[in-house]
Amino acid sequence: MRIVLVGPPGAGKGTQSRLLVDMLDVPHLSTGELLRESIRLGTEIGRAANEYMADGNLVPDELVIRMVFSRMQESDCHRGWLLDGFPRTVEQAQALHDSLQQADTPLDVVIELDIDRETIVGRLLKRAETESRDDDNYETIMARQQVYADQTRPVLDFYRERGLLRVVDGEGPAADVFSRIKAAISQLESGP
Ligand code: AP5
Repeated sequence: MRIVLVGPPGAGKGTQSRLLVDMLDVPHLSTGELLRESIRLGTEIGRAANEYMADGNLVPDELVIRMVFSRMQESDCHRGWLLDGFPRTVEQAQALHDSLQQADTPLDVVIELDIDRETIVGRLLKRAETESRDDDNYETIMARQQVYADQTRPVLDFYRERGLLRVVDGEGPAADVFSRIKAAISQLESGP
């Protein structure tokens, strides 16, 4: 299965992805994780991405697309994947669409986690107390929400127009959100 999980920062994409990849038996491709790992390793992409991420801005499309497409060439991706945090711009969505069309391996579904800004800001401020992500401080959290509204929301229209978007309520306990996602995927499998 080829699936994209989209939603604002703090919506629970990472949390739900970890549950979903166990169920679907596909690799979890998180661009945020891949970028943080590149920073830890001091790679060319990591060095280029560091400042953008610390400020809550998106890393340039060309770098992220190159990183994701390279990861998709690895053998574990032949049976599918779950993308978490990509695509985040219409340019990224178009590049993914073109590449999948060329390979005749279309996307199965795009799941949007729909959630109030108040809930997610609260979650990220809580995480800031226990983890040390450079981008989990009030100012950067608000910048990331604005970047999502300006640059990632149009991606939802891109997929809505192609009939691929399913909206799932992201409020409430993680187990409840997971049940809703599973229901959306089973509806897909049982057809219209
Ligand atoms: P990324 O790592 O993707 O971060 P993000 O989108 O800001 O998302 P988060 O990881 O903060 O939240 P999440 O939605 O995964 O929620 P989570 O499950 O962690 O990206 C970081 C940066 O990398 C970007 O700002 C950008 O600079 C760059 N980048 C990444 N991809 C890019 C791309 N494609 N193009 C360009 N740049 C890119 O949950 C959050 C917290 O809430 C956790 O503490 C969790 O335990 C808690 N939680 C989760 N679910 C629940 C629940 N149901 N109830 C209560 N608490 C919950």
